[in-house]
This record gives sequence, structure tokens and C-alpha cells, in this order.
Amino acid sequence: MKHERGFGIDIGGSGIKGAPVDLTTGTLAAERVRIPTPQPSTPEAVAETVGQILDTFGWKSSFGCTFPAVVQHGVTRTAANVDPAWVDCDAATVLRKVTGRDGLLVNDADAAGVAEVAFGAAGSRAGVVLLATLGTGIGSALIVDGHLVPNTEFGHLEIDGHDAETRAADSARDRDDLDWEQWGERLTRYFTHVENLLWPDLIVVGGGVSKKFDKWSPYVRTRTPMVPAKLLNEAGIIGAALLAHG
Ligand code: BGC
Repeated sequence: MKHERGFGIDIGGSGIKGAPVDLTTGTLAAERVRIPTPQPSTPEAVAETVGQILDTFGWKSSFGCTFPAVVQHGVTRTAANVDPAWVDCDAATVLRKVTGRDGLLVNDADAAGVAEVAFGAAGSRAGVVLLATLGTGIGSALIVDGHLVPNTEFGHLEIDGHDAETRAADSARDRDDLDWEQWGERLTRYFTHVENLLWPDLIVVGGGVSKKFDKWSPYVRTRTPMVPAKLLNEAGIIGAALLAHG
């Protein structure tokens, strides 16, 4: 059987990673390359790095690319944890001009959600799946019967007068030096609020700290079943490649 390939790039605040993806198995087809995110992380500078990664693999055709903020039809709308020059930037056009290839841009959590449903923890299930990534911010992906509702931005719900991600993201755990139990309390507050609004069937938790799911999940009380993401830091690359392929 011939396995089709795509290419995924994951743009983050500190690193830009990319690799060809086997779209049949949802695995990386070669070891990924990571280049530190240029500072300042302007659209042109980031696009140069994206082009460099594509060149490394000799990838000549279209690709998928995650971005850690709202992306509407190729236009980046917000920039919570990246350079403000991305706000209302026609990023798809910048990527095309700089790299010479078409890039489909997608919110990072949305890409991870699509990958987890196709190949990971959510196991192509019917119903309402919420993926939340806990990192510098909180990203969210809402997938209903396999269809993505893009740009949900549930990390920015206002809870107890705070932008939720500033209290419950993994970066808040670090900043406030919380132990697993204390952080678990904040996650309980966060996820209880979210589940009362959405009534999902499953919550998948991604982000680096999902590797330590067993340490903190006992302190998180939700009515919704909660599982750790399976694809970990490859989910963005895989999801972006899948979405770009259509
Ligand atoms: C952004 C989201 C992003 C998340 C994770 C949030 O601050 O608003 O768009 O998905 O961080 O990177």
C-alpha cells in the first residue's frame, strides 16, 4: 500500500518544528527538525525559518502550519504569546511570498485536536470532544462528530475575574510555584467551568505536562472522562499536515 505524505510545521513561541508526515499512519516520516523561533518573531522572520525547514527536507509542495493564536482563513487575528505584528496579518500571503509554497495556517490547538481524533487519544469518536493544551497558554479544540469548530479560544474564558490561562496554564504552575495538588485545584475550577458550558463527552489534555498526567490528574475532579493526549509534541505537526491535505 502506498502511504501518502504531507508536511507539517509547528510554530511556537520558542521553537519552530517541522517534518514530513505519513498521512496513512499519522506518524512522522522522518525525524523532525527544530529551529529556535527568531526574535523578534515577526511574520517575515518566522516565514524565513519555515522556508528553511521545508528546504532541509527538499519539500517543494504545499504544507500545513500551526500558529499559537486565532487564524481565520489564512489571516492571523490575535497574538497572545507572540509578536504583535501578527495581529490581522495576511500570514498565508507572507508564507507564500517568503517560502514560495502554499501554507495552510491553523491554530495550534486545533491542529493537535484534529490529530488526536484521527490517530490519538480521542480515537475518531462520535460526540463532542474537547482538547485542551496546557502550556504557556491554554489552547482549545472543539471537535463535534469528527468536525472541528475552529478558534474556540476557551483558554481566554474569564473565570473569577481572571483570563483563565493566566491561572491554570502550565506556565502559571511554574510562575506561582504550585505543587500538583494546588495546580489540580485550579484545573478543577477551570475544567468544571468549561464542562458546564459545553457538556463534552471526552476531554483530552495535551501540552508537555500531559506526559505527567498521572501526577496531577488525581487532583482534577470533573464529571467528564479525561485522558492524556497520545501524540504529545508531534500532534501539531501531524494535525497541520492532515488539514493541509484536505
Ligand atoms: C492562544 C491560543 C493558543 C493557545 C496555545 C492562547 O494564548 O490564544 O490561540 O491556541 O494559547 O498556544
